[in-house]
Amino acid sequence: MVRELGGEHHLVDHDVLLAGPAEEAVRRVPRDSGPLWYRGWMLPSARYADFAAALTARGGNLLTSAPGYAVAHELPGWYDVFEGATPASTWIPSDGPVAPGPEELAEAAARLGGHGPAIVKDYVKSRKHEWHEACYVPELADLAAVGRVVERFVELQGEFLAGGVVLRRYEEFEGTDASAEGPAGASGAAGGTVGAGANGGTGVVRADSGAPDAGGRAVEARVWWLDGRPVLVGPHPDAPRQAVEPDLTDVRALVRRLGCRFVTTDLASRADGSGWRVVEVGDGQVSDLPRGIDASGLLASLIAA
Ligand SMILES: Nc1ncnc2c1ncn2[C@@H]1O[C@H](COP(=O)(O)OP(=O)(O)O)[C@@H](O)[C@H]1O
Ligand SMILES: [Mg+2]
Repeated sequence: MVRELGGEHHLVDHDVLLAGPAEEAVRRVPRDSGPLWYRGWMLPSARYADFAAALTARGGNLLTSAPGYAVAHELPGWYDVFEGATPASTWIPSDGPVAPGPEELAEAAARLGGHGPAIVKDYVKSRKHEWHEACYVPELADLAAVGRVVERFVELQGEFLAGGVVLRRYEEFEGTDASAEGPAGASGAAGGTVGAGANGGTGVVRADSGAPDAGGRAVEARVWWLDGRPVLVGPHPDAPRQAVEPDLTDVRALVRRLGCRFVTTDLASRADGSGWRVVEVGDGQVSDLPRGIDASGLLASLIAA
């Protein structure tokens, strides 16, 4: 598909990108390949930075910079721009897989108003498949229960805990039911890298390691933005056949303000009908595509970017 659209693709080794050295992971990318997009599994921001540097050393240029990746990939990176359009959130940075103590949790809960339901995740992912155990907090005022959910979340994330613990106020979205079992469905992104070549050529680098992804409770739309334009609007990968028609008026201005070239926004409609909310922002390179969606327009836009 990439080639048919006038691009090129090159493979990178995802396992080596994670473990290092990044130079080794990109050795099959030709020298002086010019502008490149990545397409593949999520990378921790620090690993993406190594990856970008290794490509630069070979004369390649990831069109999403390492700082730009971190901004879209991690909640604290995009939250300030989207504040008010996304559930109120606060976070506790951590140095590895250690749960925050009761005082830190109490302060975080207080920053969210101190009562009402909430969601636990890290800077990047939740454990939505372990909804009651490690994701959903019925009542922030019950600090012992908050502590249990957060501890279990940190334990399950283990060494994959990204950045720290995030607490978000729970909002009722269409399609959600707080009393129901956790969300169903699982999916994963494809592995690889895309690159736009210097002389109009574009490359995709394919990696082939898997990472479990997740399912969602709310009915969500995933919007793919390139240079502030919505180039693809579709269902969330967890419900690929769901029809969605989000109102993008407000989100468009926020995405432009964020200033990242290629991002996704997951949008959910509030259950009370008061409009669309941003559930999360992501880097477009690592966001999962719904099965069966026609991504040729998106690919063509990326190649032309
Ligand atoms: N603040 C919230 N209020 C209500 N539901 C939420 C909230 N945050 C997340 N969810 C639900 O949990 C799911 C997972 O959360 P999300 O932030 O998208 O994490 P992940 O990165 O694991 O997909 C969402 O798809 C949504 O259904
Ligand atoms: Mg999500």
